[in-house]
Amino acid sequence: MTSKQLNHFLEENLNVLKENGLYNEIDTLEGPNGAEITVNGQKLINMSSNNYLGFANDVRLKTKANEATDLYGVGAGAVRTINGTQSIHDELESKLADFKQTEAAVAFQSGFNCNMGAISAVMNKKDAILSDELNHASIIDGCRLSGAKVIRVKHQDMDDLRVKAKEATESGLYEKVMYITDGVFSMDGDVANLPGIVEIAEEFDLITYVDDAHGSGVMGKGAGTVKHFGLQDKIDFQMGTLSKAVGVVGGYVAGTQNLIDWLKVRARPFLFSTSLTPGAAAACIEAIDIMSASTEEHDHLWENGRYLKEGLSALGFNIGKSETPITPCIIGDEKLTQTFSKRLTEEGIYAKSIVFPTVPRGTGRVRNMPSAAHTTEQLDKVLAIYKKVGNELNVI
Ligand SMILES: Cc1ncc(COP(=O)(O)O)c(C=O)c1O
Repeated sequence: MTSKQLNHFLEENLNVLKENGLYNEIDTLEGPNGAEITVNGQKLINMSSNNYLGFANDVRLKTKANEATDLYGVGAGAVRTINGTQSIHDELESKLADFKQTEAAVAFQSGFNCNMGAISAVMNKKDAILSDELNHASIIDGCRLSGAKVIRVKHQDMDDLRVKAKEATESGLYEKVMYITDGVFSMDGDVANLPGIVEIAEEFDLITYVDDAHGSGVMGKGAGTVKHFGLQDKIDFQMGTLSKAVGVVGGYVAGTQNLIDWLKVRARPFLFSTSLTPGAAAACIEAIDIMSASTEEHDHLWENGRYLKEGLSALGFNIGKSETPITPCIIGDEKLTQTFSKRLTEEGIYAKSIVFPTVPRGTGRVRNMPSAAHTTEQLDKVLAIYKKVGNELNVI
């Protein structure tokens, strides 16, 4: 028998979500994630994944994953501190450190739990964290978990950061003060002003933490936003995911040997959750090897990004101020945005609508994530469909 309290809670809250159109029906992909996907038997051009370099279904990564599975097994068998570190995990971490040009790196099972673990391993209730107001949910939750005082900083506003950094450091209220930011903001595609941030961080001795989930593989010829600005030895935490451009699953922090040593004894997801599978670790290593050897996929991603942006702009769409291949089409009204996305799907494009509360009210958008795997033919088809639906719904 299930609890009456629980049933009441679930029914009431699920109904509220459904009545307000906020209940998210999850689509199932019948096959791999790639430039084209199949949903409910319909083939669609996929403009919604973070599979920037097309690695999620790349034969080179799949081969390495299969080989590692044969060699090491399907699971690591235990949390890493007890019995679960295999040589493939060590190899992944040293590859990550080399790629990020840091002394060391530590891998986690996901980007989300990496932020939960890494922030709370260093910051505590005697500290303060200055956090860009548009930071990702995993940063917000990691900051909350740490118990530190969280001070929101206006998005990409260096004046606000300076004022708040001065207040926090001079107040005498906190032992340590950190500034944390996304490297690339995934809803708009803008890039954190890391040179400006470093200047302020140096002035006030802030700890710096960059979540480069959307910058890794995309910025800095693949090595990320910190490398793009040449600030490898100025940023304390270079956090990233292995689930987006790398195409697999996992997260990591790259930094000094002392920082990584500390995370390995204090970051709770590392200590209390079984590690990445050997197959996942091997596929990630292959992705890093490919990115280190050539910028072919990276360059193709950027070419496709430019092509799509130019095409949508020429059609008269508002594509915001993205500095990366992420291409939002800002429609504004929430309902219209949802109708727009639905019509795109009917015509053959999978591009999800993103509305309040994920983005500010009145800035509903359909977000396009071109990848290295898209062909020009596919992008031309996307532009033709955008034109048709844009005219039909009076968006252009
Ligand atoms: C900025 C940012 N950080 C962290 C994450 C979490 O990464 P993962 O999906 O690897 O858990 C995401 C994923 O959406 C993200 O966009």
